[in-house]
Amino acid sequence: IATVAVPTSQISPAPVAPAVSKDVTVLFGSQTGNCHGLAKKLSKQLEEQGFQVTLSSMSDFKTNALKKVENLLLLVSTHGEGEPPDNAISFYEFLHSKRAPKLDHLAYSVLALGDTSYEFFCQTGKDFDKRLEELGGKRLTPRVDCDVDFDEPAAEWINRVLQSLTELTAAPGTAAPTAISAASLSASAESEYSRSHPFQAEILENLNLNGRGSERETRHLELSLEGSNLQYEPGDSLGVYPENHPQLVEDLITAMDWRGEEAVATDKNGTERPLREALLRHYEITVLTKPLIEQVAKLTGNSGLQELLSAGREAELRAYIQERDLLDLVEDYGLKGIAASEFVTTLRKIPARLYSIASSPSAYPDEVHLTVRTVRYEAHGRNRYGVCSVQLAERAQIGDKLPVFVQHNPNFKLPANPDTPIIMIGPGTGVAPFRAFVGEREESGAQGKNWLFYGDQHFSTDFLYQIEWQRWLKDGVLTRMDVAFSRDTDKKVYVQHRMLEKSKELYQWLEEGAYVYVCGDEKRMAHDVHAALTAIIEREGGMSPEKAAEYVSLMQQQKRYQRDVY
Ligand code: 2AM
Repeated sequence: IATVAVPTSQISPAPVAPAVSKDVTVLFGSQTGNCHGLAKKLSKQLEEQGFQVTLSSMSDFKTNALKKVENLLLLVSTHGEGEPPDNAISFYEFLHSKRAPKLDHLAYSVLALGDTSYEFFCQTGKDFDKRLEELGGKRLTPRVDCDVDFDEPAAEWINRVLQSLTELTAAPGTAAPTAISAASLSASAESEYSRSHPFQAEILENLNLNGRGSERETRHLELSLEGSNLQYEPGDSLGVYPENHPQLVEDLITAMDWRGEEAVATDKNGTERPLREALLRHYEITVLTKPLIEQVAKLTGNSGLQELLSAGREAELRAYIQERDLLDLVEDYGLKGIAASEFVTTLRKIPARLYSIASSPSAYPDEVHLTVRTVRYEAHGRNRYGVCSVQLAERAQIGDKLPVFVQHNPNFKLPANPDTPIIMIGPGTGVAPFRAFVGEREESGAQGKNWLFYGDQHFSTDFLYQIEWQRWLKDGVLTRMDVAFSRDTDKKVYVQHRMLEKSKELYQWLEEGAYVYVCGDEKRMAHDVHAALTAIIEREGGMSPEKAAEYVSLMQQQKRYQRDVY
């Protein structure tokens, strides 16, 4: 067969890659604001690379626009037992329903935030990732699951996504995107201080708010932000880096036969510090995670630990992780004899604790106030202490400094309109942000009505900020206050009972456009309050349970029902 040279002009052109759009949709589901912050940083980077970005919370996103999205970047955190954050719920349900469209033209990638000490680590992110694939989407880059210390893996994911989108869309020869660093991810516009570079805030005041004889201890902290340029709004949180309990650190050093002076690394750059200091300030020793146990088992070859990790013992492992700390692990499995420098490589960095800010910045310029309940209990033959709360209660002195940063929370904000009425439900320390809300409305002269539901165990010893509420009531800043003291009467009364008693007025406020805010315990209180709210709408609005649920979810969509629950 004669071979015929084919003129090059006749070679059919290589199949042209389908034009890849420069439109990118960035969706986030965020409870405490981390995913929101990351989504904003990512969007800025994309815009600098010439992409057209649509940035939206999942709750604001019009689901019928999904069909047209070609590039989707999804950032979402996971809560409690693997649940999506409030502002991701409706989108999550839509995507997992029969109404979800085919997404054959979609390229996507997921960043999942979570905590390895929970069983359902990054579950919401995993669910989205899987579902988008089922609907026909193609992964742009693999999903990244982040533990509590998320800056570095998040920066890596962002860089990979940027690179992949740039490669897909760029004309040959276009410059590659500049990489974003972990430190610049947590940086903020207004202040040089951030999660990765906290401000040393001086303690100006530290009081116990509970009266003598109370079962509770709740500290009121006042910290100075002078010179930090840190800005916050009512509803935001303050991150505080705590120190571990010195006694627990000593007990751990003794149990491991360490000395305490030996040098160990405290970060990936290899910065070394004496072990004692590293265990006090740098490493988490009060929370166990499965990856930690796996690493320790590997490092030590401990057969007991290997058995605990074996198939069939999942429930036991889960219970152990939930109830125990590092000292238990060391004692229960006889782990002594491993060099400290090796052992610390299995530990997580100590995470900051987030507290809802209790002060209005207009009422207290250059200050930030916190309301912190001291956590002390006994379990498995030992006294257990909340790391940060006990440090604040027992060791933090006026004049000492605490490393802090502001965590903005766009999901918990006063209405933009000062005339809009608000209903605040905050038993226990859940009242903290409402002291900020009411203080702010007083300072700004807002005319909207303000209604507070508050509760705790006893009126005489547990009425947090009683004098301030009473003054605000007298001055008319606070329109109404209903309190429920659960242990002053034979029968328990909780905030939701007070809401139900005032059901008619409450519904009337809702019809006037009131915003509803709930802060505090998630598992029991917020759940029961949600049920009460729905029952009130059903009863007073003459609605079916379905219609009442719709009313509530409409409120949620309109941001008229906001929660800061933990
Ligand atoms: P209790 O401890 O007496 O049961 C603040 O912590 C208040 O919240 C306390 O009075 C506590 O009451 C109450 N509380 C406990 N469970 C609750 C629930 N499911 N709903 C509302 N309040 C609750």
